Formats: sequence, C-alpha cells, structure tokens
Amino acid sequence: MHARQIGQDQDTIAQPRRWADWAIARIEADYARSADTHLIPLDLPALPDVAIYLKDESSHPTGSLKHRLARSLFLHALCSGWISEGTTVVEASSGSTAVSEAYFARMLGLPFVAVIPATTAAEKIAAIEALGGQCHKVDQPGAVYGAAQALAAARGGHYMDQFTFAERATDWRGNNNIAESIFAQMAREPAPVPTWIVCGAGTGGTSATLGRFVRYHRHATRICVADPAASVFHRHWHDRTILRKDGACSVIEGIGRPRVEPSFVPAVIDRMEVVEDAASIAAARVLSRHLGRRVGGSTGTNLVACARLATQMAQAGQQGSIVTILCDSGERYASTCFNDEWLAGRNLDIAAEAARMTEFLATGRY
Ligand SMILES: Cc1ncc(COP(=O)(O)O)c(C=O)c1O
Repeated sequence: MHARQIGQDQDTIAQPRRWADWAIARIEADYARSADTHLIPLDLPALPDVAIYLKDESSHPTGSLKHRLARSLFLHALCSGWISEGTTVVEASSGSTAVSEAYFARMLGLPFVAVIPATTAAEKIAAIEALGGQCHKVDQPGAVYGAAQALAAARGGHYMDQFTFAERATDWRGNNNIAESIFAQMAREPAPVPTWIVCGAGTGGTSATLGRFVRYHRHATRICVADPAASVFHRHWHDRTILRKDGACSVIEGIGRPRVEPSFVPAVIDRMEVVEDAASIAAARVLSRHLGRRVGGSTGTNLVACARLATQMAQAGQQGSIVTILCDSGERYASTCFNDEWLAGRNLDIAAEAARMTEFLATGRY
C-alpha cells in the first residue's frame, strides 16, 4: 500500500477522532466553568430531630437535574463513536432532558430534534427552541420512542435514548455524580449520612445512580422513590411481572411512566411512595411560597414522600436526615401546575392537600 494511501487512510480515521477530541474537550471545559449545585436545608423548627435538605438541581445552566445526564449521554455517545461531526441528535423526552441536550448539541454545532408529548409545557418548548433545538410533537406519550427512532433513522442521525442509557452513561461510583455531590455537601451536617434519599423516576437513572452509589460506598442510607399514582414503576416494584400501565398518565412532567423503562433498577430501591397529582402540585406550590421561588411538580412529589418519612421518623423518636431533589424551577410550569384554570380543566382540587402540606411545614406532622 502506497505511503500516500496510508496517509489518506490515517486521515480518514484521524479526522473523526480529531473532531471527537475537540467535542469532548469542549464539554469538559464547560464542566470546568460550571459550579456544583447547592444543598439547601429546609428549616422546620417543629421537627428538631429530622432534618430535610433539598439538592437544588434547578441551578444547573439548563435548569434541571437533567443537565448532568445530558452531559453524560453526550460523552458516552462520543466515546462510543455514535456521534461525529454534523450528526443530527434526536431524543425522546418529557422536555427537561431535551432542554439540556439542546444546550450540548449547540455547543458542538449539531442539529438537535426533541420528540416530545404534545402536552409538554410551552415554557419547556420555548427553552428547547431558544437553544436551537427543534420540537417534534406526538399525541400519545408512549409514541415518543418509536417516533424518535424513526426520525433519527430518516436523517441518518443518532437517537440518544435516555431511557435506555441513563443508567449506563452515568458513573454510579462517583465522578461528581449527584450522589457524590450530596454526600460531600452533607459531611459537616449533624447527621451527615442521610437516613433516606428521596427522588422520582422518569428514566430511572437518578434512583439507579443513588442506589448503586450508597451500596458501593456501603452507606446505611436507603433510597425512596416518590412515584405518581398513575405510574407503572411502583406497581412493578411490588410485582415484577407488571411491565405496563395503560390509561391516563400523570400530569407531573418528568416522572412516572406508562412502561417500565430499561434504566429503572428496582433492586436498588428500598421503598416506593405513591403520590396523587393533586398532592404533588399542592406541595410544589406550598414549598414555592416557603422558599420564595417556584419549584416544579416533581419536586412537590418528592416533598410529599419526605413529609411521610419525616413524620414516621419523628413518631418513632428517630433522629436523622433526609435529602431530596429539587429537580427544576417552577417557572417552567407557569402555564400548567401554577395555573388555576389549567388545574380546574383537569378537575385537580389541591386545597385540602395544600393545607396539609402547610400544616406539615409548621408542625412537622403530615
Ligand atoms: C423534572 C424532572 N424530575 C425528575 C425526573 C426523574 O429523573 P430520572 O429520569 O433520572 O429518573 C425527571 C426526568 O425526566 C424530570 O424531568
């Protein structure tokens, strides 16, 4: 083979590798410019022995816990050779992941298409488009996967598929994953090893990372997943033969699924709490007033589970801490969860649940 031929072959190999090197370096530089998210104590004087903390993932550049996942998914796809210069990236998402992926796609000069349910909050759609992403709406939430796959194939692009790769792309041993950050920030607290960490499940990636991390580091901490009543996850956790839940979906965006997602790992979850949508929205609104800024619906779902666990711990005379995730800002739900007409249109009466959560923040009893 002639030297020029070898040179050319090396070029054909080297060029894509050079682009991938450039892309990875850009993501790493962005990470170096970013600060970690805050851990906020929820001051509850009425609950002196049980401290609750909020891991505020809304302070990421793209406003949600999905910023970490999007970074991991892009690095995983780049290092797997699935994305190269000009590749169209396609994702199926309830919106949050798409906002974060649009950010990284723009950083790498890649076209990005989000396949989202038609019910996705207008604010999220605007955020995806503001980052240069395109939105492709589907009527049936369950149709997002097939539509994203088909769209990627039609464009010769790459379907990122968070539902499959969330648990694989994230390093569960550490590497600044959300669990490592929580334990580092809890280190100087009165109860540094939380009794419980509470989170939701959409892909299942967050709970898988938390569950594996506490086991790997042999912490006594247990993982509780707060799941909407309409979701299949808690049904599957109790009975592994249940893989689907048909009928109405939850209105809480980002969590609860009609099918058991590949990244959902029930074996690392110690407890599941079922939360009605009205209770989630009420808790999100009450917490927003308490903090003086809005939080999203899935944060409300988490808070309801925390209130139940804290009440039980207090009644048992148990001391300890509970950490949960403030998943995203409520500004994204101004036209949904924070809109009374929207609630009325869905027969969601939250008054009683709001009174109950207000009572909990005042008395420590839920
Ligand atoms: C707002 C919000 N909260 C919670 C979650 C759940 O996270 P995970 O997908 O890691 O299970 C999601 C997932 O999309 C989300 O968008």
